[in-house]
Amino acid sequence: MKICAKWITTPQDTDRAPAAFRKSITPKGEVKKATLYASAAGVYAAYLNGSRIGKGVFAPGFTNYGARVQYQEYDVTAMLQKENLLEIGVGVGWALGQQSVRPKNRRHFPGKAIISWLEIVYTDGTKETILTDESWDTYTTQVTYAEFYYGETVDKTLEPAYLGKAVTVDNKNKLVPQIGEWITEQERLAPVELIRTPNGELVLDFGQNMTGYVEIRLAGPRGGKIVLRHAEVLDKEGNFYEGNMRSATNEVTYILSGKEEIYKPTYTFQGFRYVRLKEYPLETVDLNAFRAIVVHSEMKRTGNFTCGNEKVNQLYHNIIWGQKSNYLDIPTDCPQRDERLGWTGDAQVFCKAAAINYDVEKFFKKWLGDVASEQLPDGSIYGIVPEVMLDGQRTLISAGWGDASCIIPWQMYLAYGNKKELKKHFPMMKKWVRYLRTAGPEEYLWLGYRHYGDWLSMDAGDNITAGATSKDLIATAYFAYSTSLVIEAGKVLGEDVSEFEELHGKVVAAFREYFMENGMPKAELPMTDLSWPADRPYYSVKGITQTSLALILNFNLCTDEERPVLAAKLVQLIRDFDDRMSTGFLGTPNILQALSENGYTDVAYTLLLQEKNPSWLFSVNQGATTMWEHWDSIKEDGTFWSDSMNSFNHYAYGAVFDWIFSTVAGIRPTKPGYQEIALEPNPSKALGFADTTFESRCGFIRSYWYYKGDTVYYEFTVPQGVTANLRLPSGYTATLTGGIHHFAE
Ligand code: BGC
Repeated sequence: MKICAKWITTPQDTDRAPAAFRKSITPKGEVKKATLYASAAGVYAAYLNGSRIGKGVFAPGFTNYGARVQYQEYDVTAMLQKENLLEIGVGVGWALGQQSVRPKNRRHFPGKAIISWLEIVYTDGTKETILTDESWDTYTTQVTYAEFYYGETVDKTLEPAYLGKAVTVDNKNKLVPQIGEWITEQERLAPVELIRTPNGELVLDFGQNMTGYVEIRLAGPRGGKIVLRHAEVLDKEGNFYEGNMRSATNEVTYILSGKEEIYKPTYTFQGFRYVRLKEYPLETVDLNAFRAIVVHSEMKRTGNFTCGNEKVNQLYHNIIWGQKSNYLDIPTDCPQRDERLGWTGDAQVFCKAAAINYDVEKFFKKWLGDVASEQLPDGSIYGIVPEVMLDGQRTLISAGWGDASCIIPWQMYLAYGNKKELKKHFPMMKKWVRYLRTAGPEEYLWLGYRHYGDWLSMDAGDNITAGATSKDLIATAYFAYSTSLVIEAGKVLGEDVSEFEELHGKVVAAFREYFMENGMPKAELPMTDLSWPADRPYYSVKGITQTSLALILNFNLCTDEERPVLAAKLVQLIRDFDDRMSTGFLGTPNILQALSENGYTDVAYTLLLQEKNPSWLFSVNQGATTMWEHWDSIKEDGTFWSDSMNSFNHYAYGAVFDWIFSTVAGIRPTKPGYQEIALEPNPSKALGFADTTFESRCGFIRSYWYYKGDTVYYEFTVPQGVTANLRLPSGYTATLTGGIHHFAE
């Protein structure tokens, strides 16, 4: 589409106060169709005759604005009248808010601006297009402040002030039609309780940690003030706890108009369960006046799981809410503190589970496009996409993070079978592994880099975020793994993969020579990271850890003979650690699979059902309603992990659901897009039953098993046209076709 509209801004910058752009529109005849297109530097909200246009919020969404800015399309035919006022408000959003204006960050726009065009087709066949240009008027709005991290102030007593005619601005940003899903208001939750905390504060409890904002419907005294603060948890004493928000103040203020109105933010969101009424102008608090609106990207729910163990069910609930809370246009690390960014490592470890829970093909199609656009000419990728510098520094080019460029396209292909998408991402995949070849001093080993390591693992002591496992070992293991995915993808696409087969062989051989001896990893490995301060002890040098063994087993870095010995060693480390895992972001998604694929599903179940810290059920016992960043974000004694990095809504450890799906239920695609599946359930008396369903691209799949005495009864649903290769624990095998099938053994 050729875009003739101009980017326009206000005559003077309104900074963090949103601005509004207005245009009166009088159609020249009878309207057959009217279509509005809009985009912004910032986030915009469009209104026609006072009514909000479209279902989306926070448009145009978050992309690498230097490469592309999405625009949205709205059918406004039914909204158009004889005389119309079109208004587009714009706040700083992702593009110009604190996220992007951190020191040294790239600025893709000089300031808040919009671009829009309205196409009217008349019944007589003529057309008219109304474009943003200098004829538009600009105003202040009743929103006097808005920022994602810091909240919003709405003064309903204010009359918008005229700022003058719009000024055109020469934004060169490339506009593209919306690629991703709409971000929309999804659910409304009523508060479950009004709490008077021990220190006297009034706090609403919505019963569920989430992402979104609070809506209030009430009439109050004109000029009366409501001030809300947001938090995820109460502290040990039951007081409102905001320490983990860091600089994000999450304060929402409403100045009341005097009549009954609905108050809700337009240009901000929070991550919260609890809302403190810091100021409230009425004598009594009517809980009915409040609703929490859950906001995230639209995704069709495709997976469901329930079993006979309530704690595991709560864990599953927390995983689902972790995804809802963090799939807000991009896969974020967390929704509450001054971060909310597209951390690639987190996205990578959770993407497989994500694609079971929801249809995320379109969601990732957009974000992977940004990953590709952020890839540097040498093939490297920083830790966050769209790229944002934290504290004036670039994030790390790290193993397990940059590998998202290979892992996510491949997982999306397995889940949805879309070859075209895989082909699109293939150049990015190749570039990443070619980069790894040149990254360190050795061609086939990735040595000497800083890396995030096995982030937040528990094996190097409480406060050592990178864990005990050698970073060089992790990095080279991922080097081999990503190369193997390039080979798999290349074969699907009919590409010549000989370069990568040779590379893979050499990386595996180098890995084995450098990191292993006698079929085991070496116990201590050299510290090669020269950027590490000499006066600080270096922790990530261990070769034999739960994480290293899980990676070696899962990434096929061992021989068939070594496999049982390595698996037994992994089991021994778990036993030695009191039947617990000590793994972090990179080890955890691999450990259960490494166990069950090597004959230790019983040990995997022990870890799943473990309740002592660290474990999945520890946070469940501590009252979690979403996944936590740390295994012990709230410790045994009720105190918190440090304020500096303690999110109660981080989905990474929710990756366990892909093991539950593939091993407890036993559902695995053996051809991309579930055209052919394996059904290999592993029942456990501790769960009693497990009922798992999945709406695949090829149809509805169900794996249901339950115990009656010592007998397990099975029911499987296989979609028409799909072949399922069944294997029951007794060793019984069968080939199932479309329909419902029953077994007992
Ligand atoms: C983020 C992560 C991320 C990590 C990288 C944290 O601040 O919240 O989840 O992957 O940094 O080290």
